[in-house]
Amino acid sequence: MKNFLSNESLSIGNKYKLYLRNRLGNGSFGDIYKGINTTNNKKIAIKIEQIKKQNNLQLKNETEILSFLQGGFGIPKLYDYIRTSKFNFMIFELLGINLDQLFHLFNKKFTNNTTIALGLQMIERLEFIHSRHIIHRDIKPDNFLIGKGKNDSIVYICDFGLSKRFRDKKTGLHIQYKNGKHFIGTQIFASIYTHLGIEQSRRDDLESLAYILIYFSKGDLPWTKVKGKNRKEKYSKVLSLKININISDLCSELPKEYSKFLKYVRDLQFEEKPDYDYLKNLLKAMFVNENNVNLENFDCIDMLKKKSIYKNGSELYKRHIEEDIVNNYVSKKSIESNSKE
Ligand SMILES: Nc1ncnc2c1ncn2[C@@H]1O[C@H](COP(=O)(O)OP(=O)(O)OP(=O)(O)O)[C@@H](O)[C@H]1O
Ligand SMILES: [Mg+2]
Repeated sequence: MKNFLSNESLSIGNKYKLYLRNRLGNGSFGDIYKGINTTNNKKIAIKIEQIKKQNNLQLKNETEILSFLQGGFGIPKLYDYIRTSKFNFMIFELLGINLDQLFHLFNKKFTNNTTIALGLQMIERLEFIHSRHIIHRDIKPDNFLIGKGKNDSIVYICDFGLSKRFRDKKTGLHIQYKNGKHFIGTQIFASIYTHLGIEQSRRDDLESLAYILIYFSKGDLPWTKVKGKNRKEKYSKVLSLKININISDLCSELPKEYSKFLKYVRDLQFEEKPDYDYLKNLLKAMFVNENNVNLENFDCIDMLKKKSIYKNGSELYKRHIEEDIVNNYVSKKSIESNSKE
């Protein structure tokens, strides 16, 4: 991508500016940069897709889905979509770090309560997008991001590049069961049915979420380090582990609710509506009331922040927080100077 964007900054549509040194992530089909809206100086995120010979529809599809989900809690705000001769740009809300980065900052160990609090938010995001007839199809820690500033206790769901409607717009009918589908998603967190080439539905998003919860609680999954001669062999080894490992072995040393969660989501039928409350209640039942903190006032992000600043915080997370402090300071100053005029 860098070769194509050789300048230090890039002006987009006479309204946005992108800074090359501020790359936030590189995805499978484009990069994400930080930028500003030059009309109001607000920071923004920009997802870029390079236009190749064939029709590029992925970013357009993502923009349409994000637009359809606007207004939902924990859904990033969509600001604009711009096409130029070489690139497509999606302009949207700037968020903080993703849950995988956060997990690594904590040396891959979240407390049980932190996993539960994050898990409850992630179930709610899935419940919302499913209520809008959308399945995500790439549920993994890197696709959940923490908000910035006053929203830094909110877990956002992102990356709708592979998402799809599971109900027909006109008839409201559920998509048909199919097999022989190409694998899409991320093999570590993919459901067994996805590996087997079966059309994804709501149950697959939730099975991926179950793997995230186990990963956060145990620090790893048995198939993360699997190797193979090629992609095909590696994927089939991962699938065989997922199928053959006993749920109780996979969830060993964890509260029994983890096994119940995974068993429930694996048993869901293709078209079945998941019982999100049942899953939330399983998580709530595991919450340990420590130091008079109950689930209602347990703010895992706040706790993580404090821990990361004062104990083992890394540069990345410190920067995320300090930038907000600087931003708040700058905007307060400009309000003060405006009010003086
Ligand atoms: N709005 C945002 N604000 C801050 N960082 C972001 C934002 N959107 C994405 N990122 C960062 O960029 C990474 C990649 O973004 P995204 O998942 O949307 O791209 P992708 O091309 O679909 O990636 P992949 O295929 O690897 O999942 C995210 O994991 C996150 O760390
Ligand atoms: Mg992603």
